[in-house]
Amino acid sequence: MKAIIQEKYGSPDDLQLREVDKPAPGDDEVLVRVRAASVHPDVWHVVTGRPYVLRLMGAGLRKPRNPIPGTDMSGIVESVGKSVTRFRPGDPVFGETTVKHQWANGGAFAEYVSVRQDLLALKPDNVTFEQAASVPSSGLIALQNLRDPSRLRPGQKVLINGGGGGVGALALQLAKAHGAHVTAVDGTRKLDMLRSLGADEVLDYTREDFTRRGVRYDLIFDVPGNHPFSACRRALEPDGRYVLIGHERFGASGKRVFGLVPHFLTLIFLSRFVAQLRGPGVPMPTKKDAMGTLRDLLAAGKITPIIDSTYPLRRAREAFRHMIEDEIQGKVMITVAEAV
Ligand SMILES: NC(=O)c1ccc[n+]([C@@H]2O[C@H](COP(=O)([O-])OP(=O)(O)OC[C@H]3O[C@@H](n4cnc5c(N)ncnc54)[C@H](OP(=O)(O)O)[C@@H]3O)[C@@H](O)[C@H]2O)c1
Repeated sequence: MKAIIQEKYGSPDDLQLREVDKPAPGDDEVLVRVRAASVHPDVWHVVTGRPYVLRLMGAGLRKPRNPIPGTDMSGIVESVGKSVTRFRPGDPVFGETTVKHQWANGGAFAEYVSVRQDLLALKPDNVTFEQAASVPSSGLIALQNLRDPSRLRPGQKVLINGGGGGVGALALQLAKAHGAHVTAVDGTRKLDMLRSLGADEVLDYTREDFTRRGVRYDLIFDVPGNHPFSACRRALEPDGRYVLIGHERFGASGKRVFGLVPHFLTLIFLSRFVAQLRGPGVPMPTKKDAMGTLRDLLAAGKITPIIDSTYPLRRAREAFRHMIEDEIQGKVMITVAEAV
């Protein structure tokens, strides 16, 4: 099969299209003929090997353990392992290919990928393969951090900082689907998109600082983390909750070694004393459950993935460059057609 190969950590420009062996599905795995895959910030992290700490977290010490990048994909089931009960050849599916976190290559930038069955869900008919493949990682991180969005009470005030990005746009729609009043913050050119996704109020971060408006929120879902927690606290109800996702803007944060890990550890330590930093007391959904929730919300039209652009597999380098250098709106996708 044809696949994008990453031999070492470095630049997306080092990626190459090569002919490699087709994977063989294990007993609990499904072999998927890939139709679309998503280029998102975590794929960039593993291609560059930055922050370096990710190499110790399972991505591979000297070079990537799996040479084929990509974690989010959709496609058609080609064959199934002998223990697979949930899918059959011919089923359209989508999912995340990595069993643990997204800081590892998952083999999605290829004509075929083998995926554990509990990481997949059936693709709803009302979304395209590109739309479906844009959802898994961003949707999982949004759901795992919102925990149980059905516990949001109608009318609760939620602020999504970075609402126009991959994770933020899904968090915005999840909060709206559960009746919250959502304020979304992002740059000037994304404000119309935020309104079209259902935001009740939009704020332009180039003009306004949400921590200084005198408005308090029940939940702040913070993707860029550009304000210290002490400032965000000004905008939180006393019994409100703060969630940091963290965005390094493709290395612009300069934290090459540990990335945002020290910042997260500080917040975890502070959560011993500050209730607003504690989780909601419900366990994180499993990937299987979260994929089922995302599937249902897509099928019901409650979340609508926005696609910025699509590139064929052989132009993966350009897809990365576009994501990093240009002003994108929505996800950058790779499509895998017969002719690659
Ligand atoms: N995607 C995942 O599944 C996942 C999982 C784990 C961790 N993460 C981390 O989560 C981060 C976010 O991923 P993503 O896919 O949502 O990234 P993204 O699509 O680049 O979204 C980030 C958004 O934040 C906006 N932003 C930048 N500075 C801002 C500011 N000062 N105030 C408000 N908004 C601002 C960006 O706008 P501009 O375009 O104007 O800069 C962009 O719309 C990534 O760094 C990733 O490592 C993601």
